[in-house]
Amino acid sequence: MKTILWATLTANGNYAQSGPEHPPKQEALDDFATHAKAAGNFIVGRRTFEGMRASGGGGAFAGMDIVVVSASIKELPGVTVAGSPQEALSYLQEKGHQTALIAGGADLHNACLGHGLVDELIFNVAPVLEGKGLNLLTDQDNYQYKDVQLLDFKALGSGVIQLRYSLGRS
Ligand SMILES: NC(=O)c1ccc[n+]([C@@H]2O[C@H](COP(=O)([O-])OP(=O)(O)OC[C@H]3O[C@@H](n4cnc5c(N)ncnc54)[C@H](OP(=O)(O)O)[C@@H]3O)[C@@H](O)[C@H]2O)c1
Repeated sequence: MKTILWATLTANGNYAQSGPEHPPKQEALDDFATHAKAAGNFIVGRRTFEGMRASGGGGAFAGMDIVVVSASIKELPGVTVAGSPQEALSYLQEKGHQTALIAGGADLHNACLGHGLVDELIFNVAPVLEGKGLNLLTDQDNYQYKDVQLLDFKALGSGVIQLRYSLGRS
């Protein structure tokens, strides 16, 4: 099973945050929906899932396998809860999915990168700048430097640019 980490970055390289005052660009949301539909699933951290639920954004994903990663919660209605990213991936693999889409947020993405669980990166760079914010880290404690292979790039509209990279994991 291939694992894809999907994330929106800001033009100054932060991991983009969103909320009612700064909603994500529609093009990025549409792109996420396209990838989630293609995969038939997505994995999401508990905090991001709660944000999605509060904004009423879950309806578009009816019928998909949604896996919420949480160490503190064991059950949530309508979704599968996994205690770790590895458990979430095992669940989707056992269900026969060919691709797992890792949707964020930053904690979950960094855990997946740190454990070497990611095959491919999809970054949508939004035309916004942020001050102090979140970052994607391949290692939380040490300096690391790793080449990745550019697979594709394209404009999604409204100034959003998509970059796609392979991590060459296998
Ligand atoms: N730029 C993007 O593409 C993108 C995508 C999604 C979200 N976001 C933004 O990201 C922010 C939220 O991200 P976040 O980092 O605060 O939270 P998050 O990653 O969505 O959720 C964090 C929670 O997920 C669980 N979790 C994460 N890693 C785990 C692990 N290795 N094992 C067990 N449980 C784990 C824990 O839940 P428990 O505490 O329940 O144990 C943890 O508190 C928001 O600002 C949102 O707007 C951005």
